[in-house]
Amino acid sequence: MKKIVFDSYEEMCGAAADIYAKQLLKKPDSVLGLATGGTVVGLYAEFVRRSGAGEMDFSKASAFNLDEYYPIKKSNPQSYDYFMRQKLFDHVEFARFSIPDGEAHDPAAECARYDAEIEAAGGIDLMLLGIGLNGHIGFNEPAISYAMGTGLVDLTESSLVANSRFFGPDEIQPPQALSMGIGSIFASRSIVLLISGANKAPIAKRLCEGKIHTDVPACFLLLHPDVTLIIDRAANGD
Ligand code: F6R
Repeated sequence: MKKIVFDSYEEMCGAAADIYAKQLLKKPDSVLGLATGGTVVGLYAEFVRRSGAGEMDFSKASAFNLDEYYPIKKSNPQSYDYFMRQKLFDHVEFARFSIPDGEAHDPAAECARYDAEIEAAGGIDLMLLGIGLNGHIGFNEPAISYAMGTGLVDLTESSLVANSRFFGPDEIQPPQALSMGIGSIFASRSIVLLISGANKAPIAKRLCEGKIHTDVPACFLLLHPDVTLIIDRAANGD
């Protein structure tokens, strides 16, 4: 894992956007894995800015999102479908984008369909990740065994509490999610992991110890041949 430390979140987003820009120049029809959450908001704003300025072209690229709450309606402002449209897909043209369907009646069938769709697209070239306070990537929560492909997962108390900041008092927070598995993430050719903010410093420290802590799902990334960790000084504990 290659680690690059930046002074600010803005610089982190610029550096991550540079990696995506390079990927799109090399392969315009890249298959991009995307995440949601607070950490990626600045990067998507940078994608929108660069694409508007003609500096990045996503029009031949495909996007697959890591996860979606379950059950949730796409029209719910808390859905990741809604988040992605609002932050990115309504502003930047992609050849296509796909998000696990939080409205599916049969979640197992939806997960199998999603994996088949990724496979048919040729697999993910460049995967974007954030990290949970508990070390989760996607919604692969700390566990004693880990899923390979997309599956229906129960969110842990830590993730529910962390993400409750996005929900208003009258909004129902789904207790489950459809998430790519550790195997799906690991099969990506390249991975960019963004970590920002002092509250992520304890988990970043455990990851950066370079040991496989099996209760920190992100540690599996230490075994992947092409992971770039982009982190700010606050999360790096500097
Ligand atoms: C989101 C996802 C999660 C987030 C993580 C960090 O699609 O898969 O793993 O990346 O929970 O979220 P933030 O950035 O809100 O701290």
